[in-house]
Amino acid sequence: MLDKIASLLEEVKNLHAQTAADAEALRIKYLSKKGEISVLFDEFKQVSPELKREVGKKLNELKVFATERINNLKESFAEQQNEGSATDLSMPGTTYVCGGRHPLSVVKNDIIEIFGRLGFTVAEGPEVEDDWHVFTALNFPLEHPARDMQDTFFINTNPDILLRTHTSSVQVRVMEKQQPPIRAIFPGRVFRNEAISARAHCIFHQIEGLYVAKNVSFADLKQTLIYFAKEMFGPDTQIRLRPSYFPFTEPSAEMDVSCSLCGGKGCGVCKGTGWLEILGCGMVDPAVLEANGIDSKEYSGFAFGMGVERIAMLRYQVKDIRLFFENDMRFLSQFKSAY
Ligand code: PHE
Repeated sequence: MLDKIASLLEEVKNLHAQTAADAEALRIKYLSKKGEISVLFDEFKQVSPELKREVGKKLNELKVFATERINNLKESFAEQQNEGSATDLSMPGTTYVCGGRHPLSVVKNDIIEIFGRLGFTVAEGPEVEDDWHVFTALNFPLEHPARDMQDTFFINTNPDILLRTHTSSVQVRVMEKQQPPIRAIFPGRVFRNEAISARAHCIFHQIEGLYVAKNVSFADLKQTLIYFAKEMFGPDTQIRLRPSYFPFTEPSAEMDVSCSLCGGKGCGVCKGTGWLEILGCGMVDPAVLEANGIDSKEYSGFAFGMGVERIAMLRYQVKDIRLFFENDMRFLSQFKSAY
């Protein structure tokens, strides 16, 4: 028995393996249930009591040594494998999936940038507003039907607290804090209690513009809007102003741009008219300047407001406004490169 242990020990000391599979075969040969060392443990039961102590000690030493030796062989292959993969330059790399800007942010940033070149700064106001900032200070008399046009959401049935229906409320916030000259745009979310459809949503985004200074005229408004239209929709873009009504501007107008898809000839997008309506505008009503502590004899101004979704729908040919709010990656990932 002692001889057998000694010769196995010699054998194990000289073990070599070429591959991980060789090392596994050695483990099976020596250490598995029916392996050579395990068999010795069975035979050990027959060893005479006076030899048990010495043989037991040697047998245990053999087992520990063999286990360590074979494990070392195995580990060396595991390491080799890792080294191999780290230097395999043909392996595909790890791709990092980057997000992109939301199309509404892309369009909003473009608009901010265009007006920035004309010296307009950006200001923001709260989405939960009071009646004064959304209506009264903007010359909407109480009980005036123009209030109905806006389908207002009220908070807690308190008619004084509401979700702003337009970003014109930020005009008021700016004028009450600042004397002219004022030249700023106000991007933000607005809310209207409208049935959701492909063309309308109860939440959407507007960008408002306000310019108040000495001798501001309708010609300044028109020139500013022509510049914006050409920068936004291309240098061949024409604009058309149609008379309109807003309580806070007088005179008021709605602006159309020539359809950039058909060049004004008439197509499905412009419904055959050659024109697309994109914003409301006008000269700030003197009553609004006065309500906000600005002397209307000294100063005049213009304002305009446009829907960001509407412009994004025209630019990207999006037929359904709901797509902007559904967070469907199949839709959003199409705008990844649209910075
Ligand atoms: N606030 C108006 C709207 O929501 C748009 C507008 C803004 C019109 C500024 C004139 C001047 O329809």
